Amino acid sequence: MQELLRFEDVSYAYEPGRDALRGLTLSVAAGERVAVLGSNGAGKSTFFLLAGGVLTPAAGQIVFEGEPVRRPTDLSRLRRGVGLVFQDPDVQLLAGTVEEEVSFGPMNLRLPESEVARRVADALTAFELTEYRRRAPQYLSGGEKKRVTLADVLAMQPRLLLLDEPAASLDPAHARQLEGHLARLHRQGLALVVATHDVDFAWRWAGRVLLFQGGRLAADGAPETIFADRALLAGCGLEQPVLFRAGRALGLDPLPRTVEQLEQAVGKERNTP
Ligand SMILES: Nc1ncnc2c1ncn2[C@@H]1O[C@H](COP(=O)(O)OP(=O)(O)OP(=O)(O)O)[C@@H](O)[C@H]1O
Ligand SMILES: [Mg+2]
Repeated sequence: MQELLRFEDVSYAYEPGRDALRGLTLSVAAGERVAVLGSNGAGKSTFFLLAGGVLTPAAGQIVFEGEPVRRPTDLSRLRRGVGLVFQDPDVQLLAGTVEEEVSFGPMNLRLPESEVARRVADALTAFELTEYRRRAPQYLSGGEKKRVTLADVLAMQPRLLLLDEPAASLDPAHARQLEGHLARLHRQGLALVVATHDVDFAWRWAGRVLLFQGGRLAADGAPETIFADRALLAGCGLEQPVLFRAGRALGLDPLPRTVEQLEQAVGKERNTP
């Protein structure tokens, strides 16, 4: 599949002598669904900030859509093509109202006014924010802020979407809704990369897992392979997903990714009392 983003031996340090990321080499192709796992401080957000063009590598290089990112013009190309939802929404929210906030990106793309209005309306509807459009983003709840940042990047229509713990402050209904959006964006051909501590979500959703440990990429592979390696998981403070374990215990092949698949595999009808 067509490669979108490549990291070649990329390192980054916030402070001299203490690398937050070391020698990172990986690539992401169009249409992929990638989960990024790893304990606190493993380097996930630093990877996202570099991939979104917020930080620039101390060593190594980033290639986006076949072109190395070197000059400031390359950096704006990267920022236009990659949508980044920050872990902390307060870093991302700048405008006076939710509507201005979501308009900001499309306006910067110099799109016609009607197109900006259409994208903003669609993004606000998608995240149930229309009634919040005149409110100040900084005075919304944590989950509402997160939804505004999701609407922000959706309105940009990027080719690669990086979501740093997108469900962290969402209630169960909005977390489910987010998964619905991720499925829709995937069907539209977007590449999606999601940092998460939720191994059950990663198992249910991802086609590939990147495992970070101490600023390095400890593993990059199929979820079936990564989640089978208990020693590797334990070294990163992670456990096997519940459905992975249940499927293994029942000797199922293929292993169920959803409760519905599990129910089907053990011959139970859905919604049986
Ligand atoms: N602004 C900063 N200034 C200095 N050091 C930083 C800064 N941001 C992160 N770090 C350090 O860089 C390393 C990687 O941090 P990063 O935020 O990428 O981890 P993470 O995997 O996203 O963790 P978490 O799961 O807690 O979000 C950590 O050692 C962290 O302390
Ligand atoms: Mg982080």
